[in-house]
Amino acid sequence: MANTKDGARKPAKTPVTDAIELLMQDHKEVKAMFGAFKKLKEREDAEEEKADVVQQICTALTIHATIEEEIFYPAVRAEIDDEDLMDEADVEHAGAKELIAQLEAASPGDDHYDAKVTVLGELIDHHVKEEEGEMFPKAKKAIDTKAIGAELAARKSELESEMDVGTPPPSLKKANSGRRAPAGK
Ligand SMILES: [Fe+2]
Ligand SMILES: [Fe+2]
Repeated sequence: MANTKDGARKPAKTPVTDAIELLMQDHKEVKAMFGAFKKLKEREDAEEEKADVVQQICTALTIHATIEEEIFYPAVRAEIDDEDLMDEADVEHAGAKELIAQLEAASPGDDHYDAKVTVLGELIDHHVKEEEGEMFPKAKKAIDTKAIGAELAARKSELESEMDVGTPPPSLKKANSGRRAPAGK
């Protein structure tokens, strides 16, 4: 008899954050960054833009790996019976971090710079396939993806402010902005 309408419920103020969706969104964004680098690689004059994109890649991957390692992986490892899968993910993260550290200390034009970015992209591609193809389907059945998702989102925004994400480097802005008339007339 209670004429409860859905509107009477707690309004969904906080956006629902699903762990799997959040992590897959990250994967998509990083893939796009590697795609951008691939295009820049074909140009001779894109060193500054390359450096910016690589910095973005390194920051995004560092934040992503940190939230997975601090929150997601331990939760999944505790609930699924697949030590090998989780151990391999750990080792792949270690490999990626090694390349990220090398790239953070390097500049475009340095020996093997492009190759390092390309190999990092391949490593991430492989890693993402295993996560999305094997780990996430198991995780979905085993953990509370909404609760973990909220934790991931909170930690992610904390790390983003620590790492000062959100101010795009000037060289990523469109290069045609110099033609605007000066303020006034
Ligand atoms: Fe991931
Ligand atoms: Fe991962």
